[in-house]
This record gives sequence, C-alpha cells and structure tokens, in this order.
Amino acid sequence: MSKVTVVGAGNVGATCANVLAFNEVADEVVMLDVKEGVSEGKAMDMMQTAQLLGFDTTVVGCTNDYAKTANSDVVVITSGIPRKPGMTREELIGVNAGIVKSVAGNILKYSPDAIIVVISNPMDTMTYLSLKSLGLPKNKIIGMGGALDSSRFKYFLSQALGCNANEVEGMVIGGHGDTTMIPLARFATYKGLPVSNFLSKEQIDEVVKSTMVGGATLTGLLGTSAWYAPGAAGAYVVESIIKNQKKMIPSCVALEGEYGQSDICIGVPAIIGRNGVEKIVEIELNAEEKELFEKSAAAVRKTNDVLAEMNAI
Ligand code: LAC
Repeated sequence: MSKVTVVGAGNVGATCANVLAFNEVADEVVMLDVKEGVSEGKAMDMMQTAQLLGFDTTVVGCTNDYAKTANSDVVVITSGIPRKPGMTREELIGVNAGIVKSVAGNILKYSPDAIIVVISNPMDTMTYLSLKSLGLPKNKIIGMGGALDSSRFKYFLSQALGCNANEVEGMVIGGHGDTTMIPLARFATYKGLPVSNFLSKEQIDEVVKSTMVGGATLTGLLGTSAWYAPGAAGAYVVESIIKNQKKMIPSCVALEGEYGQSDICIGVPAIIGRNGVEKIVEIELNAEEKELFEKSAAAVRKTNDVLAEMNAI
C-alpha cells in the first residue's frame, strides 16, 4: 500500500494530487488544506473522474486533520501564498516560512519516515527550512524546482526547434528564482545531438531567458502563480520515489561539499528513488557555468539568511 499526502489543496496541490491519481502513482492520495471543505470537495470531484479516466487511486480530502495523513510514504508541501504579478518568489518568505515550518512539523508527527517534497516558494529556502527544522537526514528532503524549470527549458527548446518536447533533453540547475536559474544550454540535446547544431547562439540565449522568467511570464498572464507544470513537476518527483525509478532529476537538495557548496539546498542533478536523494550527480561545469552557480548560491544564501533574522531556524 503506497500513500502520498499533498498539503495545500490550492491550484498547485490539487493539480499534483490529480496527476498522482490519474497516473496511479500511489494507492492513496490524501489532500489536506486549512480551508474547511475545500480538499474534501476537490477530492470528491477527482473521485468522480475515476470511472471516466479509469484510475484506481483513492483520493481523500481533509481539513487540517493530520491524523489522516499518517504513515505517508511521501508528503508534498505546497502550502503558503502564491506570488502576484511583479513579485519575486523571494518576497513570499515572510508569510510562507511560518506556514511551511508548522506544516512540516505536523507532518513528521504522523509520518516520521516520509520523504518530503517541497513546492512552496521561495522553494530553495523552504527546502532548507524544512531540512533545518525537521532534522531529517538530507536524502529525505527534496525541492521540485529543477524538475519544473527543466521541463520549461525543454518546452522553450522544442518551440525554437519546432519539435516534440519529448525528444529534447536539458537540465536547469541553480536556484528556482528568476535570476538564479541556470539552464545548461551546453548540455541540451535534440535526439542526442547538441542543440547548437540546430539553433543559433541568439536563439539559444532567447530560450535561456524565457526559461528563467518562465514562472513570472505565467504569473503576468494568470494574475497568480502557474499550477499545471508546478503540480506535475511535484508528481514527477513523487513517482520517481514511490516507484524507485531512480530518474536523474535536477532537484533542490542539501549539498555537503558537492559543487563547492555546503549548508545550502540548491538545484543540482540527483538520482531520485525510494530513499529520496539516492545520489548527487556532479557534472563538470566550465568556468562560466561555475561562476553562475556561485552567484546563484550566494543569492539563495541571502534569502536563507532571512530565516535566521525571522528566528525561523
Ligand atoms: C513557478 C512557481 C510555482 O515557477 O514557482 O511557476
């Protein structure tokens, strides 16, 4: 019996739960929200699609009842407020840090063995906060930003190439911020061939730029944060854990010397399986990429410092 809890039944959490159910990633998916009736209603709505879509996963909703989340294998945290147009993810820290910290503590009481997947923003700092406040081993806390940003990178590459996004490979490392993301264009491929065979430097630069502000562009269009790709990215990470797929997913993980960094959670390629982070993959960055990574880490640390100022850690 596999069980996944999604905390927060807003757009991102509900999408994540829906993808998990539709793809039958787990036997049971519990959605928990603070708003009375919302997760129960969304769970019932999803269950009324089971016959139409042909899935067997049971989706359960509950209002702040952490006992219902007991013995989850994986818990996805989406709680907190989304950004509005013009805001950075980092500006959400004041509100979201307290929410994420209390959610993570409650989760751990009922599911001490769970692997935690963090979606809440600012995602790198919320992953770091979860790691620090829960005292869990570092393999058990994973932020999903890299999965999302890499999917957006592949989308923009496929648009420039005029091809199917499933035939494109590419990774985004670094922070999950408008200026901290590092799309690794040098390693991006189309059918195994470097994309530089097909795209000019200007076209690749444009793809990199669009990827970095991918979330902000959608926030501008929607008036709030995006949810389909963020929710699906969370579910993608959960599936690799539950099914022990051992996919290499750029993920926000705790570094202890890898990439020259320690005491930080930031996006790097990692093998994700039943134990959460099975392995951090160190790829050789060139001087320019290294410099970008150092700058990105410095920016993430600056946001992490706010946690101490808030006495959150
Ligand atoms: C985004 C938010 C969820 O990138 O961070 O869409």
